[in-house]
Amino acid sequence: MIGIFDSGIGGLSILRSIHKRHPQYRTVYFGDSKNAPYGSKSQDEIIDLTWEGVKFLFDQGAVLVILACNTATAAALRVIQQERLKDYPGRNVLGIILPTAEELVELEFDRIAILATPSTMASGSYLTEFNKLKPGMHITQHAPEDWVNFVEANETQQEAARASVKKHIDAVLKGLPDAQAILLACTHFPALLHSYPERIPIPIFAQGGIVAARLHTYLKRHPEIETNIERDGDHLYFTSGDVAHVSKAAEVFMGYTPRFEVNV
Ligand code: DGL
Repeated sequence: MIGIFDSGIGGLSILRSIHKRHPQYRTVYFGDSKNAPYGSKSQDEIIDLTWEGVKFLFDQGAVLVILACNTATAAALRVIQQERLKDYPGRNVLGIILPTAEELVELEFDRIAILATPSTMASGSYLTEFNKLKPGMHITQHAPEDWVNFVEANETQQEAARASVKKHIDAVLKGLPDAQAILLACTHFPALLHSYPERIPIPIFAQGGIVAARLHTYLKRHPEIETNIERDGDHLYFTSGDVAHVSKAAEVFMGYTPRFEVNV
């Protein structure tokens, strides 16, 4: 099984692309909506919550877990990979920051505006990765603090959400007027952009397609993991939040209503 973890429902934007690209693999999703947003929590809190989520997905049978959350990747991936996986031979945990940075560098962008959570922004993870891959890139970062809450509350169509999207996208375009691309470096954000009232003049990248493509490459290189993933196309969904609310809010990403269960 492939496990997908997020602080809430944003990781569904990654899951949907994984389902499209790899419909055969059994997947299990866990969104920690009860504790979302992670973006305003301390690093230690994010590490603890993320590790609990990963262990839950391991318990369900996941051999590979993707942290479909930039905030969790920035805070917890290294600790989990270096210190916590020893007791779980044959299993691995991957993040989504490095693959995203690699993709944008391969596309030869030099000036990118990043939208992320306050915690991802403060971690400097994107700046570090871009700088390693291509020193001298010009990156600006913005953290729209209320966006994750709009998505978790299923309020992406509300006027307050639209006004916030307009405000922040305008600020981004003004802050780096010669930006070549906008990166949505929070997996919740793709649910909001449709409400921007004008045509955004530069390409906007969400991470679903990038992560699904990189997953393909990873599994080719790791047959010892790939051969342990069931191929019955079954998809399970768990949440720590309210099942009915989360199932409904998930429609914005999935286009249908997935049946969530509680993570007990
Ligand atoms: N979806 C998460 C991300 O990609 C963040 C959401 C949160 O702040 O909880 O960063």
